[in-house]
Amino acid sequence: MIKIESLDHYGRGITKINGKIAFIENSLPNERVEIKIDKEKKKYIEGSVLKYIEKSKERVNVNCPYYDSCGGCNIMHLSYKDQLKFKQDKIINIIRKYINKDIKINNIISSDTNINYRNKVTFQVKENIGFYKNNTYDIINIDNCLISDKIINNSIKYLRKLNLKDINKITCRTGSNELMIIIETNNKNLDITPLTEVANSIYLKIDNKYIHVYGNKHIYETLDKFKYLISPDSFFQVNINTCLKLYNKIKDYVGKNKNVIDLYCGTGSIGIFVSDSNNVSGIEINESATKDALKNKDINNLSDINFICGDSGKKLKELNFNPDIIIVDPPRSGLNKETIDNIIKFNAKEIIYVSCDPMTLVRDLNILNKYYKINELTPFDMFPNTYHVECLTYLTKKM
Ligand SMILES: C[S@@+](CC[C@H](N)C(=O)[O-])C[C@H]1O[C@@H](n2cnc3c(N)ncnc32)[C@H](O)[C@@H]1O
Repeated sequence: MIKIESLDHYGRGITKINGKIAFIENSLPNERVEIKIDKEKKKYIEGSVLKYIEKSKERVNVNCPYYDSCGGCNIMHLSYKDQLKFKQDKIINIIRKYINKDIKINNIISSDTNINYRNKVTFQVKENIGFYKNNTYDIINIDNCLISDKIINNSIKYLRKLNLKDINKITCRTGSNELMIIIETNNKNLDITPLTEVANSIYLKIDNKYIHVYGNKHIYETLDKFKYLISPDSFFQVNINTCLKLYNKIKDYVGKNKNVIDLYCGTGSIGIFVSDSNNVSGIEINESATKDALKNKDINNLSDINFICGDSGKKLKELNFNPDIIIVDPPRSGLNKETIDNIIKFNAKEIIYVSCDPMTLVRDLNILNKYYKINELTPFDMFPNTYHVECLTYLTKKM
């Protein structure tokens, strides 16, 4: 029997076994548990709980029958209040440890709902439809995923009517009550008839190409007064109510009468959201997301806004624009050196950094901090029941 001491950044319990650090899935501080060792490396051990001898008072019952084996959610056994505390503490620890500065960290902004929030889900398919079992390629059959949009859950019974042998993955996306289904297959003649009862849009993805086979070409999402068209391979934030809170805070920072660069702009969602009385220039590498952004500009009757397709670092060099503010919202890998160098050259007064990975965020902030003061950071709960957390950081040019 061992006692769990604390939690790591992935929500795993930490303890020591024979002097070695050990990470135990689904365990909480102060719990006494019997475990089995799943993996032993030179420096650490990974394990899972066989029996709870003494449970933490923070532990809550999990309503999901797949929780113990599915690799999707990892902190559902904490109450939502304790999940928020876990994320807040995680961000405070990372910032204090990796940036040697006293940075103001605001309270985490919660999600209005911690279930049925995900508007995009990719199911693995191989006879079964579901998600990978923790750390394996075995697929657990799923009938209902607690964090997925109800429209997506409702579609699963129709997905099962397809010829699953021919399918590798199925992605379901929702927006304003519409459903888009993207099927990864090699069979261009796949019978999709069973899905026409529930889907508004269907694509086959063959050899990485998207082939439109049914219904509308796009789905739409609404944020405040803006409407966004979304293509099958364009990024859009997965939790629309937390997204709105995030974008409203960005809008407050941006203010009025500014020249704004929206780097990694996706479908132009942030740039368009802050476009009232501001000039916006967006850069995005994905061609269809950039096309969506240009269409979104028209749908929303906007004029002082432009979107360019290309790599952020390279296109920044060519940009003939004098920004007051640069907004960056990169993928998990964060900013590369070329992009950071070019951002610094613009000498903008303010930078707004949206990040879904706190480790690459602190790496980049440490570089920007030479020229920019890190004023404050706000965590947002974009991904309830998982250890992931979105952060918004506001920087201003040092005098
Ligand atoms: C986290 S998403 C943010 C999108 C958008 N800001 C939003 O809130 O919906 C990151 C975006 O960066 C784009 N991207 C990835 N690498 C890039 C690069 N090197 N240059 C420009 N855009 C890139 C991705 O295609 C994706 O749309």
